[in-house]
Amino acid sequence: MDKLREASAAFKTKAERSSDYALRAAALSRCGGDDDKVFDGLSLVRDTLLRLADGERQAGNGRAMNNAKPLVTLAVDIGGTGLKMLCLDQEGKPLTERLRVPTPEPPTPPRLLAALDKLRAQMPAFDRVSVGYPGVIKRGVVRTAANLHPRWIGFPLQAALEKRWKKPVRVANDAAVQGFGAIQGRGVEMIITLGTGMGSALFTDGRLCPGLELGHHPWLKKTYEDYLGRRGLKKYGVKKWNKLLRKAVAQTAATFNWDHLYLGGGNTKLVTLQFRPNVTIVSNLEGLLGGVALWRDEESQ
Ligand code: BGC
Repeated sequence: MDKLREASAAFKTKAERSSDYALRAAALSRCGGDDDKVFDGLSLVRDTLLRLADGERQAGNGRAMNNAKPLVTLAVDIGGTGLKMLCLDQEGKPLTERLRVPTPEPPTPPRLLAALDKLRAQMPAFDRVSVGYPGVIKRGVVRTAANLHPRWIGFPLQAALEKRWKKPVRVANDAAVQGFGAIQGRGVEMIITLGTGMGSALFTDGRLCPGLELGHHPWLKKTYEDYLGRRGLKKYGVKKWNKLLRKAVAQTAATFNWDHLYLGGGNTKLVTLQFRPNVTIVSNLEGLLGGVALWRDEESQ
């Protein structure tokens, strides 16, 4: 009993001095003794204090969130035919018009970056940058450049833009960024983009499985991109291209068993096919709207 009294007195002093409920509760939990009643009483006080501490913490988080300045993301889409840019708010809603200029010829890194600089100069202030690049990206470095210039291979795109624009930059495959802007985050969702090249990205419950390059996978007598990208469209014409697209959609359904397929990219305006409700065409704007998703992990930290 003496031990308990001593502990209670020590706690009282500590608790009186402290405005921190969690600290008070921690002190209380060290006040166990032989007297059950006193102990139960102390446990009750401890639990109450812990609840209060939790309430304060949550209120504190709420205050922090309300006071935090909303971040503006500059979203960039590098395409084989056009370069696009716009600013997004923290929820991924557009804050500006989408600007577009043709991709310079030849699309070497210096020429393309200079064109991006010009677009950026027309944008308001931003805090961070998301870039969709038309090829494989590993840790911010370009690995493939099927529809750009070979000098892109090995180019540290993320670091180069950070140096140029003095803002944090994240770079991902263009179809993956477009997918982030379109998906619901449930089940197996796939996006196929129809533009200069054929892009593809696969998501399970909203998580990207990075690195899918279906466009370069053998299909029929060539690759998917040979038939459905810009070259295929030119070679086969709109009608046959649509027939090939129908076949490709059926093939991907059988291969990936997606719950939902999204078709994006500039050439979706030429699609004349009717699909089931789990195949939808998404607007080209989605290519940029997914930009904030590249920063989601940071916001949840
Ligand atoms: C590239 C993909 C890209 C797609 C659309 C393909 O040639 O390999 O990475 O997503 O074009 O730009």
